[in-house]
Amino acid sequence: MFNQLRGTLAPLPSDEVAAAHAAFGTSRMLPRLAYVDPAVYDWEQANIFSGWVCLGRGEKFAEAGTQTSVETGAGGVLLVRGDDGELRAFANVCRHRGHELVPCGVTTMKKNIVCPYHAWTYKLDGTLRNAPGGFRDVEDFDKTQFGLVELNVVEWHGWVFVDPSGESGPFEDHAAGLEQVVANYRPENLVTVASHSYTLETNWKVIVENYQECYHCPSIHPELCRVSPPQSGENLEPDGEWMGGWMDLEANAATMSLDGTSGGVAIEGLNDMELRTVMYVVAFPNLLISLHPDYVMTHTLRPISADKTFVECSWAFPREVAERPGFDPSYAVDFWDLTNRQDWAACESVQRGLTSPHAIPGPMAPEEDGVYQFVSRVARAYAGLGRADDARPSMKSEDVVPAEGAPAVDEATV
Ligand code: FES
Ligand SMILES: [Fe+2]
Repeated sequence: MFNQLRGTLAPLPSDEVAAAHAAFGTSRMLPRLAYVDPAVYDWEQANIFSGWVCLGRGEKFAEAGTQTSVETGAGGVLLVRGDDGELRAFANVCRHRGHELVPCGVTTMKKNIVCPYHAWTYKLDGTLRNAPGGFRDVEDFDKTQFGLVELNVVEWHGWVFVDPSGESGPFEDHAAGLEQVVANYRPENLVTVASHSYTLETNWKVIVENYQECYHCPSIHPELCRVSPPQSGENLEPDGEWMGGWMDLEANAATMSLDGTSGGVAIEGLNDMELRTVMYVVAFPNLLISLHPDYVMTHTLRPISADKTFVECSWAFPREVAERPGFDPSYAVDFWDLTNRQDWAACESVQRGLTSPHAIPGPMAPEEDGVYQFVSRVARAYAGLGRADDARPSMKSEDVVPAEGAPAVDEATV
């Protein structure tokens, strides 16, 4: 996403933007206006949320005929599952006079895509089936010329990504290096059994920044600190448009839950390190993936305005557990719902603080290097610059090794 800039600079003071991508240790947070100014929000929609963005788990669109529309930085997108099982994305605009095909945010199930205005009807593959009325008498009217505009869409390990601008380049480049972090968990085989929606009174970046550090954990997450040491783990330095890092589980904890026990089973095929850690990944700009030994939690962010963000959080488990009669996912869901709400309260308070004209961008602590990775990359995008790969000494994703002394556990005990 940050690599498909369209050449316009964000409407922000250049000295404050430069301070945000200065070297780690000397840099400052993003300018206050980046969090509160609708003009910056509009710039981000056009320059960031018009590239590869995540639309959630593909399970939601599994059945043939499912049609759902979502707003992106490059207009409405209509996702359609075809009879052939293919998920396609189209611009959500009729080829007749531009009516939306499906209202934004609505999901429907039909054999065809029917425009509500004059009933032009398209097949699920986007080709025009029928234009009612006098069109059959119009000489040279060629239906093949009026199919829906198709957009790039990818289903990757169970998540759906779309590039509504068509200018973001190959998804493989966007997610370069992420495959090896995620692959062992095989999220595409997991089954979502719970999902929560939250509408937060905060800018989307405040949520990502909060997700990238545990400096705040001793202050606001007593339950989390009992099962995962807040200063454990390392951040990765990815090749693609993502970032992430892991944290250890406490010796007596099998997973993230209130008492550290798991109500499920370990995901098959994980290595010793994956069984003793939780990996936290931000797939830019709007997907947060939390990889646990026994479940995968997903946050999908959808900015609504400069100071409002819709967040969907879902939990997916191995099929054998998800389909077990009476399976209760609350050990994971309740833990993270509590933790989410602690985070949301902090994020909303940050947003209220940033409405003050006296808010001055502050420095980052040494353990906020993950925040720096995000902030500096956004700042470079604001300034029309590419990535600075030498910005911070860190580990390459291929160097991931088990934490020293991390105990190996029997999968059956998780
Ligand atoms: S605008 Fe869609 S049928 Fe007329
Ligand atoms: Fe937190």
